Amino acid sequence: MYKKAVILVSGTGSNMESIIKACKESVLHLKIERVFSNRSNPPAFEKATKYKIPTEFLSSKLDRLEERLSEYIHKNQIDLIILAGFMRILSPNFTARFKRMIVNIHPALLPAFPGLDAQRRAWDTGVAKTGVTVHFVDEGVDTGEIILQREFIIDRTKSFEFFKNELLKLEHRTYIEALQSLDKK
Ligand code: GRF
Repeated sequence: MYKKAVILVSGTGSNMESIIKACKESVLHLKIERVFSNRSNPPAFEKATKYKIPTEFLSSKLDRLEERLSEYIHKNQIDLIILAGFMRILSPNFTARFKRMIVNIHPALLPAFPGLDAQRRAWDTGVAKTGVTVHFVDEGVDTGEIILQREFIIDRTKSFEFFKNELLKLEHRTYIEALQSLDKK
């Protein structure tokens, strides 16, 4: 059972916000200690501050970023690192050190469409369905052990923007569900 988490973000932070809300409402029994970013002031920071969660810019340099994060995790007994739109690939050293402690959400049904622009690639390929995946992070890109997947049937009568937005809403629900399932372990 995981207790103390940090969230890593790079951008908007809508997944981060839905996780923070779920914790505040006791839908999730995690304490979010801090929100970190590789960017100096992403829109996500403003959202986190609204919920009185401390924010911290790590570094845009991976080695410094991981060094500071490791230090924080050890000092504060963090047992879960939640990636929510975090756009840096963590080093194999870091992922090995924190095995089964780092989770990520990906907007596709892995192993299909790993990496960037998964929604656009699913859309352009013409597949009938895609989905979202929550997984542990290992040394590969979107290759770690799958925790939970949810499917999404693509409605081709609607626009790409509509599809992307609906898939993001599914991400929010699926991330909470996946974290709840970890909670029970
Ligand atoms: C999400 O689609 C996530 O799957 C991807 O980046 C996006 C982040 O959105 N890795 P947000 O910052 O949570 O709004």
